Amino acid sequence: MTPMRTPLIAAATLAVSLTAATSSQAADVDKAIEYRQDALGVMAWQIGPLSDMAQGKIEFDAEAFTRRAENLAAVAPLPWEGFVEGSLQGDGHGVETDALSAIADDREDFESRQQALIEESATLAELAQGDDVTAMRRQVAAVANTCKGCHDNYKAE
Ligand code: HEC
Repeated sequence: MTPMRTPLIAAATLAVSLTAATSSQAADVDKAIEYRQDALGVMAWQIGPLSDMAQGKIEFDAEAFTRRAENLAAVAPLPWEGFVEGSLQGDGHGVETDALSAIADDREDFESRQQALIEESATLAELAQGDDVTAMRRQVAAVANTCKGCHDNYKAE
């Protein structure tokens, strides 16, 4: 082996492994975005009928209300791990996202809004164990306000 070859091969190998690392990171970011969008979709699916019941658009069904409130409380903590670094609008990944770059400017506020949703959903699930329908209805609005508040600040459209 000539003395010149080893560093060249090493450099070529390094370049290949760097490329591989970069593209697998990009794939991870894309997957994280898809994951969180799916989880947010699950939340929306669960809160839909709760909201319709709270507003009297469909008949109040205590059993369905309790089940959905529990589902919502279980899902509320899940989407947030999908907001990985490099996954916001303008970050150059491969998936369309409505997540505004403003999230990176105030991660603390974004996280406190996640926490608010988690807590309000837990309160809703607790209330759903009882029979105070007025309080349950009011609490659905409290949960929905946490969705809206975050969307107004951090979601496009
Ligand atoms: C802490 C902030 C925050 C809270 C709280 C929040 N969202 Fe969102 N939501 C977002 C962001 C940011 C996006 C954009 C995600 C993306 O496109 O990658 C989004 C997107 C969505 C989407 C679209 C998902 C898709 O398929 O692209 C739905 C549906 C949704 N949210 C429903 C809800 C509901 C329902 C609640 C309350 C129960 C809620 N969100 C609470 C920040 C929040």
